[in-house]
Amino acid sequence: MSAVPAADDTPAIRVRGLRNAFGDQVVHEDLDLEVRRGEIIGVVGGSGTGKSVLMRAILGLREPQGGSIEVLGVDALSEKARESKLIERNTGVLFQGGALFSSLTVAENVSVPLKEHYPDLPLDMVHDLAMLKVRMSGLGADAGAKLPSQLSGGMRKRAGIARALALDPDLLFLDEPTAGLDPIGAAAFDDLIRTLQRALGLTVFLITHDLDTLYSICDRVAVLADRRVLVAAPCRRSRSSTIPGCRNISTARADAPRRPPRPRRLEHGNPRQPCVDRRLHPRRLRARGAVRTVGGQIHHREELP
Ligand SMILES: Nc1ncnc2c1ncn2[C@@H]1O[C@H](COP(=O)(O)OP(=O)(O)OP(=O)(O)O)[C@@H](O)[C@H]1O
Ligand SMILES: [Mg+2]
Repeated sequence: MSAVPAADDTPAIRVRGLRNAFGDQVVHEDLDLEVRRGEIIGVVGGSGTGKSVLMRAILGLREPQGGSIEVLGVDALSEKARESKLIERNTGVLFQGGALFSSLTVAENVSVPLKEHYPDLPLDMVHDLAMLKVRMSGLGADAGAKLPSQLSGGMRKRAGIARALALDPDLLFLDEPTAGLDPIGAAAFDDLIRTLQRALGLTVFLITHDLDTLYSICDRVAVLADRRVLVAAPCRRSRSSTIPGCRNISTARADAPRRPPRPRRLEHGNPRQPCVDRRLHPRRLRARGAVRTVGGQIHHREELP
């Protein structure tokens, strides 16, 4: 359903000189950020530093007081982008707190963006597409008929992901996706995000306080402090950085309550089920020359055993 012209060398998101203020309170000043296509960028920073406001500005949900924002090569602040809904159609969002419609079932929630953007689609097709996304998010088919209040916290997050994927987006925005999940649920959710990102070639803008999420699935980290992005760097480099915001991350990591050891990586098949056959682990397959990783995606050279 991708409708945005994709020139692969243009970044997925380019923010320049962004200014956001609420009255006297300046949240962002001269903020620059570039998100590359196909990466998971972790956006971190103290509470109130403006992570969610940044996301809302990129999504066109609030008009900044200055600066420019390009999404998938399109000027996000232009009237044309707003009218054509090009960006809206190519982005999926999981808001902080989930925000599912409480009176609609999971399948109906996932159908909402489909009905809005493709009103001519027959209803049974909308339902089938919605159920496909429900299953892709690791929920059982029976979850489709449930109301959000009948789901666990982790299941609600998965339903939120299913809705975010409804329009087959190129870009996925996740605001604190693992907040409120128990450590095992959070680790499984991290795996789901990574698996979906690789399988669908998504670019992911991931706001998190969860250092396990940051270090286990993010390619780069952008640190928000002092009203701007202080540094955007590969996670490993930012951990050893002497920049104050980054030092906080590495210090926090040492002090933070740790998740218990992660369950085995979830790589194949149903994302809820761990990979039971160790021979199928991508590392082993790669060592045997059975698979090749190209552009972050796994390509099989031969039939799997
Ligand atoms: N609609 C609004 N009106 C007035 N002030 C706002 C509004 N939205 C956000 N703010 C203010 O902007 C600042 C940044 O808010 P934001 O929600 O982006 O923080 P955050 O970094 O996402 O924090 P957290 O980690 O707690 O979610 C806060 O001081 C907040 O009070
Ligand atoms: Mg926030």
